[in-house]
Amino acid sequence: MKLLITGGLGFIGTNFIRHWFSVHPSDSIINLDKITYAANPKNLIEFEGKNNYRFVKGDILDTDLVDPLVSQVDVIVHFAAESHVDRSIDDPLLFVRTNVLGTYTLLNAAHKYQKRFHHVSTDEVFGSIPFDSDEQFNELTPYDPSSPYSASKAASDHFVRSFHKTFGLPITISNCSNNYGPYQHPEKMIPRTITNLLAGEKIKVYGQGDNFRDWLHVKDHCRAIETIILHGKIGETYCIGGLKKGTANIDLVKNILSLMGKDESFIEYVPDRPAHDNYAVNWNKIHQELGWEPQYTLDTGLRQTIDWYQKHQDWYQDSKKEAEIFYQKLADYKNIHK
Ligand code: NAD
Ligand code: TYD
Repeated sequence: MKLLITGGLGFIGTNFIRHWFSVHPSDSIINLDKITYAANPKNLIEFEGKNNYRFVKGDILDTDLVDPLVSQVDVIVHFAAESHVDRSIDDPLLFVRTNVLGTYTLLNAAHKYQKRFHHVSTDEVFGSIPFDSDEQFNELTPYDPSSPYSASKAASDHFVRSFHKTFGLPITISNCSNNYGPYQHPEKMIPRTITNLLAGEKIKVYGQGDNFRDWLHVKDHCRAIETIILHGKIGETYCIGGLKKGTANIDLVKNILSLMGKDESFIEYVPDRPAHDNYAVNWNKIHQELGWEPQYTLDTGLRQTIDWYQKHQDWYQDSKKEAEIFYQKLADYKNIHK
C-alpha cells in the first residue's frame, strides 16, 4: 500500500509512521508536513534515504503540491492540524486556515483522484461532559465544540462526511481522546508536567485541577487508526478512548509526581482556561465491530513516557523554551483581558 501521511513530523504522525513501518515494512509512505513550531524535523531521520519513505516539506493548502502527491497514493491519512487549544485562544484564524481549509484542500484532491481518506479527529468536537456525570461521548453524540480548536476540527469532520455523502468519497473518521507518549510537544499537559519536573520547576495546574480527561497512549491510537484503515467500514466514524475514564487533572499530576519521586509542593495552581471542557469516550463500536482495545494502562504508559523524556532531554530543549514563551504571552493576554 502507498500512503500519504499529512503532519507526519508531529506527535501522533511520527508515532503512526513508525508503527506502520514496523507492521508493514514493504509499504511506501509520503510524509507531507509544513514543519510548524509543533514539528521536529529529526523525528524520522532514520527513514530518510530509504526508497519507501519520502519527506515533502509543504503546506496542505498548496493545491499544486497536494494534487500530484495524492494522485500517487492509495490512501491519505490526515493528521496535519493546529492542535493546541490554548494556541487557538490566541490565534483562532490560523486554526480555520489549517484545520478547515487545509482539510478541504486535501478532500478536493482525494475527490479528484477518488482516493481513500482517513480523517484523524478528536473527541473535543462533542463539547464537554458535566462534572459529577458518568456520561461518555459516542458516535451519536451531537457536536457541541467549545474552543476555536474543537470548532475547527468539527467543521473539518463535517466537510469530510459531506464529501462522502455528496461525492461518494471513500472516507472514515476517528474521534480520539487525549493522547500521550513519546514525541509529544512539551506545550501539552503530560510532557509539560514531566519536563518541568525534570528541570526542578513547578507544574502548572489550571483552576482547581478538577477538569477530567480520558488518556490514551499514542501507540494504542496508532493501532486503532491502522485497524480502521484496514478493516473500517467506508463512511463510518469510530470513537477511540482509553481504559480509565474521567481522570481529573489533579489526580493525573499527583500520579506523575509520585512516579517521579516528588511531593505536592511542586504543584502551582494557575488561572483557569476559558471554556474548559471535560472528556470521556465510549469505544464500544470499534471494539465490537473491529476488535480494537487499548493495551496500555495509564500507569504503564506514564512510566514509559517519563522514562522517554528523561532519556531525550535534547529532543525537547528548544521546543520547551518556545512553549514557555508562548505561555508567558498567554498569561499576559489573560491579565489584559480579565
Ligand atoms: P501536532 O501539533 O503534534 O502535529 C501537527 C503536525 O502537523 C506538525 O508536524 C505540523 O508541522 C503539521 N502541520 C500543521 N499545519 C500544517 C500545514 N498547514 N501543512 C502541513 N503540515 C502542517 O499534533 P498531534 O497531537 O500529532 O495531532 C495530530 C492530529 O490528531 C490532529 O489532527 C489532532 O487534531 C488529532 N488529535 C490529537 C489528539 C492529541 O491528544 N494530541 C487527540 C485526538 C486527535
Ligand atoms: P492539553 O494537554 O492542553 O490538552 P487538551 O486541552 O486538548 O485536552 O490539556 C490537558 C488538560 O490539562 C486540560 O484540562 C488543561 C490542563 N492543563 C493544565 O492544567 N496545565 C497545563 O500546563 C496544561 C498545558 C494543561
